[in-house]
Amino acid sequence: MELIDLKTGSRDYPVYIGGGILSNRALWAKLLNDQPVLIVSNEVVAPLYLQTLLSALPGGRNEQLILADGEQTKNLSNWQLITDKLATMEFGRDACIIAIGGGVTGDLAGFAAACWMRGIDIIQVPTTLLAQVDASVGGKTAINHSAGKNLLGSFHQPCAVVVDCETLNTLPIREFRAGLAEVIKYGAITDLNFFDWLDRHATALNARLPEPIEQAVISSIQAKAALVAADELEQGPRALLNFGHTFAHALEAATEYKRWLHGEAVAIGMILAARLSTRMGLDSGDAERRLTELSGKLGLTGPEVGLPDNQILIDYMRLDKKNIGGKYRFILLKELGTAVVNADVSTQDIHAVLDSFLLTP
Ligand code: NAD
Ligand code: GLY
Repeated sequence: MELIDLKTGSRDYPVYIGGGILSNRALWAKLLNDQPVLIVSNEVVAPLYLQTLLSALPGGRNEQLILADGEQTKNLSNWQLITDKLATMEFGRDACIIAIGGGVTGDLAGFAAACWMRGIDIIQVPTTLLAQVDASVGGKTAINHSAGKNLLGSFHQPCAVVVDCETLNTLPIREFRAGLAEVIKYGAITDLNFFDWLDRHATALNARLPEPIEQAVISSIQAKAALVAADELEQGPRALLNFGHTFAHALEAATEYKRWLHGEAVAIGMILAARLSTRMGLDSGDAERRLTELSGKLGLTGPEVGLPDNQILIDYMRLDKKNIGGKYRFILLKELGTAVVNADVSTQDIHAVLDSFLLTP
């Protein structure tokens, strides 16, 4: 079992990573101190993993809440269901939520934990690749508002994260590949050696071999932990984690979140951002070439699949949360493995990049 100690301004906590650790009784005994526990999961994950978790927990009070599946459940009604359950069970400040599931479960339960009595413990047990390498680590919690995704939320660090890579065995292949896009991102923004390693292990990752998957998860979490430790509240370098995301969020919104999974949109967004980097006089073009190659090897598509109308995408990008003073703030690549924040991109630059994919698919 690998342990990464994540140190943030508000809390230090352990991230445990390993195959089969969900059933590790000694680990759970260490993590829970006779606290009342509310397990939050969903109708897909609970039948697969709830019993294993229950068997591993130390004795003591535990309750369960199993919610419906899907992004649309990350809403105020389900936040209310969780807090109602905490109220009905008379759970106080000493209570602990265990969120077991993908990023939707983690974000939703995390936001309930952040709010209940101004903040109670939460242990994140991510079961999708995307949640293991991204959503469960770093303390961003949120639900969606009718005006947009993740608009109601807060920073609330978990007290521990338990990443059992064996849970990925049941993950649908499309979800697995979408998670790989975020894995690629870490190599692209901070670590060329990791990017090269992913390239060399693409066949093994496609075959879903446990060892390279676990290594990829560990390296990804290490990369995220370093950025979160340096900048818990995203005032500086944590923003680099948004590489590819300005385009991705626009692609998702323009297609009403129906055409692409988030990671699939990120894969396309990273290639667009790489081409934009070249246009802005940064990377030579090598980053775009290598990102396109690696995405393809890992079963992800690029912008050649056809994009929504430029103007619609640009309208969404103008509303991006990262923008300041009416200026776009893009994460671009100085070169592969080194990302920077750039505030010089104009609407014309974005048009040019999107058009170039129309002209030369
Ligand atoms: P998800 O939670 O919807 O999970 C994807 C699907 O996989 C769901 O149907 C889920 O029930 C199923 N599933 C989960 N684990 C499984 C398993 N082991 N076997 C079989 N099926 C399984 O989606 P996601 O991609 O995990 O997370 C996306 C969410 O995460 C979005 O809401 C996004 O906003 C959020 N997110 C948050 C952060 C953050 O920092 N907090 C970062 C990235 C994404
Ligand atoms: N998912 C981006 C972040 O945690 O900052």
